[in-house]
Amino acid sequence: MKLHLDRRELLGLLVAGGAHALSGFHLLGCGDPSSMEPVPAGDPLPFGGVTTSLPTEHDYIARIEGTIPRGLRGTLYRNGPGLFDRGELRKRCIVDGDGAIHQDRFGDGEVRFRNRFVQTEKYVEEQGAGAFLYDTWTTKAPGTSDIPSIPNQAGVSVWKWRDRLYAFDEGTFPFELDPDSLDTVGLATLGLQNVVAAHPKKLAETGEWAHFGLDFASGRLHLAVLAPDGTVRESRVHQLRPTSYVHDFFPTASHIVVHLQPAILDLNKLLTGNAVRDSIAWRPEEGSRFLLFKRGTDEPPVEVEATPGWQWHTIGTHVRGNDIVCEWVGYDDGSNALGDDADICTIMSGTDRTPATHGTLRRTILPLSGGTATEEVIADLGGQELPQIHRARIGLEPRYAYTTYNGSAGVLWSGLARTDLRTGTADLFDFGAGFVCGEPVFAPAPDTGPDIESGKEPGWLLSEVGDSATGRAQLAIFDAEHVADGPIARVHLEHHLPLKFHGEWNPA
Ligand SMILES: [Fe+2]
Repeated sequence: MKLHLDRRELLGLLVAGGAHALSGFHLLGCGDPSSMEPVPAGDPLPFGGVTTSLPTEHDYIARIEGTIPRGLRGTLYRNGPGLFDRGELRKRCIVDGDGAIHQDRFGDGEVRFRNRFVQTEKYVEEQGAGAFLYDTWTTKAPGTSDIPSIPNQAGVSVWKWRDRLYAFDEGTFPFELDPDSLDTVGLATLGLQNVVAAHPKKLAETGEWAHFGLDFASGRLHLAVLAPDGTVRESRVHQLRPTSYVHDFFPTASHIVVHLQPAILDLNKLLTGNAVRDSIAWRPEEGSRFLLFKRGTDEPPVEVEATPGWQWHTIGTHVRGNDIVCEWVGYDDGSNALGDDADICTIMSGTDRTPATHGTLRRTILPLSGGTATEEVIADLGGQELPQIHRARIGLEPRYAYTTYNGSAGVLWSGLARTDLRTGTADLFDFGAGFVCGEPVFAPAPDTGPDIESGKEPGWLLSEVGDSATGRAQLAIFDAEHVADGPIARVHLEHHLPLKFHGEWNPA
């Protein structure tokens, strides 16, 4: 899907503060090819290959080292950008690339790997042309004008809902895929009128599927909840002023919380030829605000001010008495994502460094009636991201956060951690220099439930690990209750893997 604004509409946005529904922006730029980076020379496979395109599609039985647990039967779905380069040009940041889905199917003692690109209009057109034709969030394409629109890349997350598989991008609708072949079925609205984002949550208590979305240009925040039968149970729109960048949210059975971090859209920058990411400014003087929406009502949200902090991902959310507890991965500022020297961009040139700020596990406690937030750092291991919790605790108090862990003090992560959210202590494993770990997807052990008081939470962590020495990725399998012991099995792939952002385990 591609949506465009002409200059008159853009002027209207500037004057009126924005009320148009958009699906993001496409700054069909100013015809400046230098807005894309050249493919770097030197190490052809830095960071274990997670910043390197994988243009080929595969389907094979992978070699297994160790023993796959008997209870681990099902399919792991993963999504992330698979193509950063065409010709001599390269995307500026790792968040930009065409969605490449893969599945690891576990059964009968073997694992079958398959990967496919989502056949978005953008991908199909650019494949045909052999060149980048469209701008994306961080990178302008050569020879483009300044009319905004961003085509759907379907490259952030993948979820199965009511036996259908969906690949999500930010600020638009998902693409439906065949859960088996990964063939692209087409764009899906899920019955919603407004766009959604890549971080829906399946609420354990109700079986609902909660969504949020943001028409970034207009600042229209969309909240929606699907009932277990797939019907739209709730849908509302809230106008933001100014517009903050929002990547993830905090839903429960009774409330939805949105963190408005001081990452503020500057429309004037957008209109003067900057890419969308370059039009977002970190303005800590604006502070952070949490909006608390009471579900099932049209009541205006309760607002609570908090210490400014950058957020990609939430960990968990639960109501406790008269408060709602929001746990998330926070950074002291936006330098991970914003600015010319952002961490997510510098890695694309193959260079590593110690980042200026790193992700810590944070807890923000918000009074449901408003007032003052109570904030604390749960754990600071020197860098954590891509959190997961047990699916039976989504919308309820989680006991553990499963995250990547930055053992090497670089921008990316060479290890995994299970952090006890009550004590802040962590059970962690570091693969060491030359390895990069992806999101640890939690697969619960069958017929067992988490016991939040005793801390029993049996299951496995599944994480793709890039290896610079071999140039091939492996899917590492951990006993989630013994992370420090290292992988109990490894599924060896026949190639590298670009970084996968998000995925889901679907038991057989
Ligand atoms: Fe994300």
